[in-house]
Amino acid sequence: AMVAVLLLAAATVSSPVAVAAQQTLRVGSDVAYPPFEYVDERSGEYAGFDMDLIRALGEKMGVKIEIVNTAFDGIIPALVMGEFDAIISAMTITAERAETVSFSDPYFTTGQVIATRPDETEIAGPDDLKGKVVAVQLGTTGQFEAEKIQGLKRLDTYQFVDQAFSALANRSADAAVVDELVSIEYMKQHPDAIRVVGEPFTTEDYGIAVRKSDTELLEKINRALAQLRADGTYDELYQKWFGV
Ligand code: ARG
Repeated sequence: AMVAVLLLAAATVSSPVAVAAQQTLRVGSDVAYPPFEYVDERSGEYAGFDMDLIRALGEKMGVKIEIVNTAFDGIIPALVMGEFDAIISAMTITAERAETVSFSDPYFTTGQVIATRPDETEIAGPDDLKGKVVAVQLGTTGQFEAEKIQGLKRLDTYQFVDQAFSALANRSADAAVVDELVSIEYMKQHPDAIRVVGEPFTTEDYGIAVRKSDTELLEKINRALAQLRADGTYDELYQKWFGV
């Protein structure tokens, strides 16, 4: 009887573990940045390359992913404050940001491009932005790069990237400085509103950010990322979103 009681006790103790809910990793993202992160209109679900990638990483890590939609400006303070435990938001790895957060290994290489109105013929590169009104998303490398250009007429910052593109369409700006593939996606959707000029004039790597103290989480993310690259999942996702 003693043995039975002990077994019963053991079973009672162990069963909650067996059925325990999977751990959840809360991930912040400004989910208004297609094709990296956006809300799918039909399903209402978060979709995009980053969303697929973080879910695939979650699977490898054995955690459930919960996306926390957050304005890009302020996303790093929100991570530091503990509103979520990681950021995936097409975020460029910069030395300045790396003073506050830790970045994963790079998962995507891209750069800034200039977008302008289709009827604007004077703008072919950053040097042509002198005397022009430039629109950017607040807190992005697009803003930081535009700030380096001397002699702009004005630099207008917008909370969301589509507002910066809209500024071109309604003629309140002459150019926008935004990540390459996001600009190209907007041009595909709104060919009458914007035109992407030339090639990227910066080279930037996207990374996943975590708090500096979360070294174990960072290692897990890097390990899972390497697995996704090795087993072909990364290439599949790349093809799905950017393949020709
Ligand atoms: N890559 C740029 C940066 O890191 C822009 C990222 C904006 N991301 C977004 N989801 N709005 O500053």
